[in-house]
Amino acid sequence: MNFLEEKIVKEGVVKKGNILKVDSFLNHQMDVKLFRQMGEEFKKRFADKPINKILTVEASGIGIACIVAECFDVPVVFAKKSKSVNIDGEVYNAEVESFTHKCKNQVLVSKKFLNPEDHILIIDDFLANGCALQGLISIVSQAGGTVEGIGIAIEKGFQQGGKIIRNLGFQLESLAIVESMDASDGSVVFREQ
Ligand code: G4P
Ligand code: NA
Ligand code: NA
Repeated sequence: MNFLEEKIVKEGVVKKGNILKVDSFLNHQMDVKLFRQMGEEFKKRFADKPINKILTVEASGIGIACIVAECFDVPVVFAKKSKSVNIDGEVYNAEVESFTHKCKNQVLVSKKFLNPEDHILIIDDFLANGCALQGLISIVSQAGGTVEGIGIAIEKGFQQGGKIIRNLGFQLESLAIVESMDASDGSVVFREQ
């Protein structure tokens, strides 16, 4: 097991409905030392890529993305979520459907902060169905930029997002891939990487 898998086994809580609660270290209270280890691991995995900017989406991707950005010594931009569909011409936008929350959101990034010279590493905390990621990929392509890679903390390997994104040809690196989990005994099984 790697450092993140160990942390998940130690502090993660498996909830009914295939939900993994990791709010003691990832998306409520945040273990910044762990985030730094994650950033250093992403630096290794994307060492050959000319990354000049990190992109994430609010809310819980932001903390990780900031520390990753510090490791890469590049700026970080987060896409904002909005219920409104009244989008002015100053932003790139994509519609993102959340299966977990059963709603649709727009995600927006100001045109000021993405451009054709950008080589982007997308960072997020969870990958489930991949809708949020597909929205971010769409926004980078609207800007004429390049997605150099995607770094995820926890991928739910039994949902479709990872497969879809890898089939599109992106380098997707998830630090922990959960193959299965069981709320009755709290066990988590990881994919061998
Ligand atoms: P998708 O983006 O991959 O399609 O995911 P989905 O719609 O299924 O997930 C909706 C939200 O629930 C996402 O956060 C995602 O990070 C989160 N999520 C999915 N599975 C789990 C899980 O097992 N545990 C936890 N803790 N979160 C999970 P969000 O609502 O888009 O953003 P945020 O405001 O929480 O950052
Ligand atoms: Na989340
Ligand atoms: Na997220």
